[in-house]
Amino acid sequence: MPMRTCCLILACAIAVTAAAQPAVRYQPKTKVWVLETEHTSYALGVNERNELQHLYWGKKLARDEDYPQARSAAGFAFEAREGLTSEEYPGWGGMRYAEPCLKVTLEDGVRDVVLKYVSHQVRGDGLEIRLKDVNYDLFVELAWRVYPRSDVISKRATIRNQTKSPLALESAQSGVWYLPAGEGYRLSYLSGRWAGETQLVREPIHPGIKVLESRRGNTSHQLNPWFAIDAEGSAGEEHGRVWFGALGWSGNWRLSIEQTSHQQVRVTGGFNTFDFAYPLKPGESLETPPFYGGFTDLGFGEASRLLHRFERAEILPDRAAPRLRPVLYNSWEATEFHVNEEGQRQLAGRAAKLGVELFVMDDGWFGQRNDDKAGLGDWFVNPQKFPSGLKPLIAHVNSLGMKFGLWVEPEMINRNSDLFRAHPDWVIHFSGRPQTEGRNQMVLNMARADVKEHIFGVLDRLLAENDIKFIKWDMNRYFSEPGWPAVPAAEQRKIWVAYVRNVYEIIDRLRARHPSLEIESCSGGGGRVDLGILQRVEQVWTSDNTEAFDRMRIQDGFSFAYAPKVMMDWITDVPNMNGRTTPLKFRFLAAMMGSVGIGGNLNKWPDADMDLAKKMVALYKEIRATVQQGSLYRLCSPREGSLTANQYLSEDGKQAVLFAFLHSQQFRRPPPAIYLRGLDERKLYRIRTIDDKMTEKRETASGAFLMHRGLSFRLGGDFDSTAIVLERLD
Ligand code: GLA
Repeated sequence: MPMRTCCLILACAIAVTAAAQPAVRYQPKTKVWVLETEHTSYALGVNERNELQHLYWGKKLARDEDYPQARSAAGFAFEAREGLTSEEYPGWGGMRYAEPCLKVTLEDGVRDVVLKYVSHQVRGDGLEIRLKDVNYDLFVELAWRVYPRSDVISKRATIRNQTKSPLALESAQSGVWYLPAGEGYRLSYLSGRWAGETQLVREPIHPGIKVLESRRGNTSHQLNPWFAIDAEGSAGEEHGRVWFGALGWSGNWRLSIEQTSHQQVRVTGGFNTFDFAYPLKPGESLETPPFYGGFTDLGFGEASRLLHRFERAEILPDRAAPRLRPVLYNSWEATEFHVNEEGQRQLAGRAAKLGVELFVMDDGWFGQRNDDKAGLGDWFVNPQKFPSGLKPLIAHVNSLGMKFGLWVEPEMINRNSDLFRAHPDWVIHFSGRPQTEGRNQMVLNMARADVKEHIFGVLDRLLAENDIKFIKWDMNRYFSEPGWPAVPAAEQRKIWVAYVRNVYEIIDRLRARHPSLEIESCSGGGGRVDLGILQRVEQVWTSDNTEAFDRMRIQDGFSFAYAPKVMMDWITDVPNMNGRTTPLKFRFLAAMMGSVGIGGNLNKWPDADMDLAKKMVALYKEIRATVQQGSLYRLCSPREGSLTANQYLSEDGKQAVLFAFLHSQQFRRPPPAIYLRGLDERKLYRIRTIDDKMTEKRETASGAFLMHRGLSFRLGGDFDSTAIVLERLD
């Protein structure tokens, strides 16, 4: 055989072997586990003290020998353990002063946990490692899962009390992510408030701890359980090393971003330790939420695209067979609580003319719900507003070719409700203490088995009796006075965990019983958006603020962590929220960057608006697969200038859509050119404009032209906007 052919065969064989490498590998000689995704790897090992040690997280290394081995360094008396060893799951015990993953009080008063490796098991893309305290039968089972295509790895822990006595967990974290030791890292995270969610914040990481958390019972509008850290604070949208992560939990959570005195940046995440005390009787266990992490050296844009892909392929309920989100109409902003059959029929008729596919009736249809002071808890149809129940309205909506959806807020109760009159003790409260109301409502104790069964029962009946294909599941206030007087004091703080688990369980059971049901998670807008709820709902309500210019920033931040497909955007009437009047086209294009809904009072829309809306909905249907299932490129950020531009590229690369928005023109300055991304340089693309705003008219352009020469648009004045659709000519 000639030498060249032989080399070729050898090279192929090596390539095949490399490709066939399992995603999780154990090297017994070095006691190292390697977890590999397509482009990244994560390594951990056991050192000579039997401690489980983090070794590497970053770009995939070529050879197994490239990974370090676990070793503990000898330290000076004042050196803490974490200065010497990056422990994968440190208990609070010994000379450890950094944020621990586990803190326990045992019945005999011992408050010291030192965990050592016991055993492990590799199962496909998963790895499980068992740790045990040096004295007590307190076990921690750590589980990692590799998601090769999205370059994401998840970790979670199960803490088991196998001792003969009860104990209390004071901290139970999912795990800790270590970055390569060094300084100069920068943290990105999402903060906000009601009507101003998911604003991107960036700041340098310094020695000490930065805590991101929720103490509110739900995920919160204020902070979101997502982070990204870039090296030297130098990553951009399309370049630079970025480590990112997110927790899958919709209750009290905490991320501690810490830089130790040894220049070690570590991110610990899991249940919030604030007011946390979780008792475990002998034989009991607690599983933490999953903590997902990923890495890319292609900047924040790629970090987001990886997360979006991960959510679509691994998290969302339709992960096995993705479905496109329908265009919906929602009655809230049009009617508020004043819903009735005739009014909803009228709106439905107008919505159907626009091409709406799902008609959702919001708040006001049940109990004595005429304003926000009464009715929550009474999930039966209001007989004055709907004398023949919901069936005639649903039949009408269906006859117009739309599915029917309904708003519910199952976790809440008004003092003025039959449910409260029957079960005042079902509310979260401390005996004999004030019960704070928010929006005139209180929180039902979903941790209680009887409350859980009651709520499941009423929702199950509602769905069984009516052809409801979609529910918007709302939660319009945070916890306060989080007592659970029916159980002993030592058990009461379980409420933080049990509440969320039971909400999850109700949703899971409803979905199992009503397989065609789809759900939107809402909590006064974006108060419950996280990777835990997203395993159970198709979409989330991004913000109660539907004002299109404010939405530029809210949606931009949202897109760092969450896929456009789950981001619900409505077109509503103006002026809205800030008294601003943006043109209907601007509002439509802003909404078309996610999943579209219409929320205005269609009865008042003039013919010209109805015509434009009809065209925009038709256009959206042509591009929604690209927006919802494709790759997002953030080209111009609303945080940085007066132009926002986003591009979406379909999975097969055949269609691209560009949206551009000028917020406000100053000094007669023309907007900057926009450079597209991700196209094939040598292929031609047919350009379809929705208006005549391209400065240089062209019917086609090459990928190279679009990406390197860029496109300029005649955008001027305030709130001007445009969009183009590119179809690749093969
Ligand atoms: C919350 C939601 C709104 C609407 C109202 C109804 O504020 O975020 O979209 O459903 O409740 O009361």
